[in-house]
Amino acid sequence: METVHRIDELRARIAAWRKQGERIGFVPTMGNLHRGHLALVERLKSEADRIVVSIFVNPTQFGANEDFDGYPRTLEADLANLAPLGVDAVFAPSVAEMYPDGPQLRTKVELATLTDMACGASRPGHFTGVATVVSKLFNIVQPDVAAFGKKDYQQVKVIERMVRDLDIPVRIVPVDTLREADGLAMSSRNGYLSAEERAIAPLLARTLAAAAERLQQGEAPAAVEAWTRQTLDEGGMRTDYVTIRRQSDLAEPTARDRDLVILAAAWLGRARLLDNREITLNALS
Ligand code: PAJ
Repeated sequence: METVHRIDELRARIAAWRKQGERIGFVPTMGNLHRGHLALVERLKSEADRIVVSIFVNPTQFGANEDFDGYPRTLEADLANLAPLGVDAVFAPSVAEMYPDGPQLRTKVELATLTDMACGASRPGHFTGVATVVSKLFNIVQPDVAAFGKKDYQQVKVIERMVRDLDIPVRIVPVDTLREADGLAMSSRNGYLSAEERAIAPLLARTLAAAAERLQQGEAPAAVEAWTRQTLDEGGMRTDYVTIRRQSDLAEPTARDRDLVILAAAWLGRARLLDNREITLNALS
């Protein structure tokens, strides 16, 4: 496994693989890797001959008051986690390598859909930063296939839409969320939780499971959203948003939509926890 910091070096490595007819798999990350990230790598093993993982804390997707400076940077430990997985190259560029003229975007990839709700509403500009950096990374790596976690459900939809609209020749593979034994979705930001907060944290996944059950029982989405918010707030969290959408395009569901997803984010101490739950409503008999 080689660690590469420069774009031209990475391009040269990948060009040699491609010349041999090898398929390239790609997993973009911001590092501080946990088993959720590693599951994305595992998932691509059967899909690609070579696997490239990027580790880059992307400044353009963080708001001015967000945790860009404090975001955990653990490159040595990340490399130790990736080495046994058969990863071929780790791309760990500096901010100056990715944004030589500074991180103020002059050209940006902005979606006219999907980004005005949920995380997009709470974090203005976030998905423009994500779409822009992922399109840059796709142009650098030119992967055949790339894996993204459903933990960041809206992000998967944004990337799928971008790839489709811009004709980027990559197949996107969504991967199920890896969880701790008590249900908490694995996340680099879980490290921000105190012991006391960590004990409260599984409430989010548990409440979304109960909310899904309520939907299945026929309760109206708006009532389930209100119940979910109240349950999280009473349980010691501060709800950022709860919204029930249809899976395909995250639009508000009509009475005929059966494949739904409950998207939620809630603050717990200085951590903003994110989770979601897909549900397919049983057809009415
Ligand atoms: P990051 O938060 O590091 O996540 C990298 C990838 O790991 C994303 O596709 C994310 O959905 C996935 N992931 C995180 N936790 C997971 C879990 N518990 N189970 C399964 N997959 C999980 O998402 C980003 O970085 C950035 O926005 C990025 C796409 C790299 C662009 O900067």
